[in-house]
Amino acid sequence: MKTVTVDLGARSYPIHIATGLLAGAAEYLAPLARGRMMAIVTDRNCVVHLATLQAALTTAGVTSEAIVLPPGEGTKSWASLATLTDRLLDLGIERGDHVVALGGGVIGDLVGFATAILKRGCGFVQIPTTLLAQVDSSVGGKTAINTPAGKNLVGAFHQPRLVLIDPQVLDTLPPREVRAGYAEVVKYGLIDDADFFDWCEAHGPALLAGDPDARTYAITHAVAAKARIVAADEHETNGTRALLNLGHTFGHALEAETGFSQALIHGEGVAAGCALAFAYSAAKALCPQADADRVAAHWRACGLPDGLAAAGITASGTTLVDHMRHDKKMAAGTLPFLLARGIGRTYLDKTVDLADVAAFLDRQPRPDAR
Ligand code: GLY
Repeated sequence: MKTVTVDLGARSYPIHIATGLLAGAAEYLAPLARGRMMAIVTDRNCVVHLATLQAALTTAGVTSEAIVLPPGEGTKSWASLATLTDRLLDLGIERGDHVVALGGGVIGDLVGFATAILKRGCGFVQIPTTLLAQVDSSVGGKTAINTPAGKNLVGAFHQPRLVLIDPQVLDTLPPREVRAGYAEVVKYGLIDDADFFDWCEAHGPALLAGDPDARTYAITHAVAAKARIVAADEHETNGTRALLNLGHTFGHALEAETGFSQALIHGEGVAAGCALAFAYSAAKALCPQADADRVAAHWRACGLPDGLAAAGITASGTTLVDHMRHDKKMAAGTLPFLLARGIGRTYLDKTVDLADVAAFLDRQPRPDAR
């Protein structure tokens, strides 16, 4: 068992990581249930994990009620939020109760937001079932739903009370989802930990092939990095937490261009986005070209897109930059970019000229030029 603490004073919480932890979750959940029923919110893709969790709770004498929502990004909506909060109120959830979010980022974000506003705030526990949720969205208390104006535009900071991560649940995840989540793992190395990027180059393929030790090591390392960053800048006000957006501005433009569809899922957009952030940094002579080449080579070795061509993007630089202009980080006409001085040396640059980014993107190979 590995344990990482998110250090936020009175709101500090542990993240436990262990293979098989789902079946042993009652040890950690029973004290939070305090003899009352626990509500578990999940989606239809997680019914196997739900059965494991409910059986464990029953054995420990904890009753539970499951709320099973449709899978997919569409569930992060006002309508689902209303349905879920009504259901939780029907179940008699009180402020002192802890609602369990069992699923990927959609379930975690929705349950986190619902519990932030239910009775002006009740407790919740994250049990993430995708690699992306395990290493990013389940930790740090960002919760949100999507609206017609964009993704994650309505939400709240609401920290979970506990995070339980069982790397074994990844065995049932489609390999493409594991690869996409892995992009967010590597991101921590690219941000400020060159040694961890070296580890990823050596062990990433084993992790993707299912090696349990590699998975546990990488998840623990990633979660510890995220915990440090969140503790330093919980509400993203001093620039530290913004580092987690490496690859997200370029990536968001590619995701928007592909309609946030299965053509390019979020982690793939982040991978291509990190490659572009490094390529742009190298083009501006901020970062050695060799470092940008290493990033792209690692994505290729792991079956992740290393730029516009591999992401299937044919759009012009101007079109892509127009998507960036709608980014919620745009402030007073300027878009802050995460650029790099090298691997593990990411920094926030507020002086980037969007026309220059468009020209750079126009110079990148397109699918038909490969
Ligand atoms: N996923 C970025 C953050 O938690 O700040």
